[in-house]
Amino acid sequence: MMKVINVVGARPNFMKMAPIIEAMNRYPDRFQHLLVHTGQHYDERMSQAFFVDLGMPKPDVDLEVGSGSHAEQTARIMVEFEKVCLRERPDLVIVVGDVNSTMACTITAKKLGIKVAHVEAGLRSRDMAMPEEINRLCTDVLCDYLFTTDHFADENLKAEGVADDKVFFVGNVMIDTLLKHKDMARGLGLMADLGLERGRFATLTLHRPSNVDDPETLGGILSALSEVAKEIPIVFPIHPRTRKMIEQFGLSRFCSTSTSPQGLWMTEPLGYLDFLHLNMHAMMVITDSGGLQEETTVLGVPCITLRHNTERPITCEVGTNFIVGNERAAILRHAMAILRGDVPTGRVPDRWDGRAAERIVDVLARVATAPAAASAQLVLQQ
Ligand code: UD1
Repeated sequence: MMKVINVVGARPNFMKMAPIIEAMNRYPDRFQHLLVHTGQHYDERMSQAFFVDLGMPKPDVDLEVGSGSHAEQTARIMVEFEKVCLRERPDLVIVVGDVNSTMACTITAKKLGIKVAHVEAGLRSRDMAMPEEINRLCTDVLCDYLFTTDHFADENLKAEGVADDKVFFVGNVMIDTLLKHKDMARGLGLMADLGLERGRFATLTLHRPSNVDDPETLGGILSALSEVAKEIPIVFPIHPRTRKMIEQFGLSRFCSTSTSPQGLWMTEPLGYLDFLHLNMHAMMVITDSGGLQEETTVLGVPCITLRHNTERPITCEVGTNFIVGNERAAILRHAMAILRGDVPTGRVPDRWDGRAAERIVDVLARVATAPAAASAQLVLQQ
């Protein structure tokens, strides 16, 4: 029996971990697993709502670390997670994605001699100004099992000298979750309740520091999008960080908060199912998120990514994603082209087929069967 700690911390982690837990539950004789939530995201709408939508078990442990500077948050996670590892003595820790919780728990576990698996390994934006790029590099260099989503990730790891036998191309767990919930989400009533017409609205998410922490950049983006919003309503479920910045910089004039969508319409963060429902029916999705570039690729919905680079180039190579940067003219040019009906067609990347978690658990059941060494080291270090 292998004892596993599954780690989640922030919103994009939940939909990646849900299918892994489900796949592990199919082998009760092979895995004993605990779910640890670091508490990096803690607002009801950023965290608990996703557990409900995704049918995830309540975390066994909540580290309740909350917000802070990168150093503060990372350090708090490490201090608290170390206590959990020493108490629970897992054989394996599984981390997903690229948030601070991913890196903090990887470093902590490795220093205790515990094996770590990284799901969504090998993604690289080559942009060291992104905190996530630092998290990805630190995590991958330490992990024992690297589960990848596409050939770019495999090539990146190879180029960094990672041994082939640590890398497993399994597909995309986020897409497992999307495919599982797609039909359910399609039938929801939110679009009709909001008075939106299928294919005649856009959705928007914005939260990257490079877009929202500088008044001129954020002002330029909102001003461009308020032009687009003269043509079709843009539903903007707002991240708490972005709301704070819009208020602080006095940019609320670009956004509408009326009771129904019109213009650039700000609303509270949406749950997983409601947001999937809107995205699958939207004319376009405008975002700086990583995950949405992948989800729109599978949904076949045009995606305008407000960044200068992506760690997910597969979504541009085969999908419907455009990397347009964050300058007003480029945003307007691309959005207007889609409004005119100039839309891309894409295809779904290899192994984004709803079975990635199953492959991960199969690999772990097969290869990670020697827990004794890790446990011995753990005892020595106490
Ligand atoms: C984090 C991840 C980012 C991911 C994003 C998804 C890192 C470095 N960043 O960014 O990769 O794309 O999550 O949302 O790990 N806040 C709340 N309530 C919450 C959470 C955050 O009000 O539940 C506010 C706080 O003011 C906080 C700020 O948002 O300081 C930023 O939160 P943080 O977790 O540091 O980073 P995100 O911007 O959410």
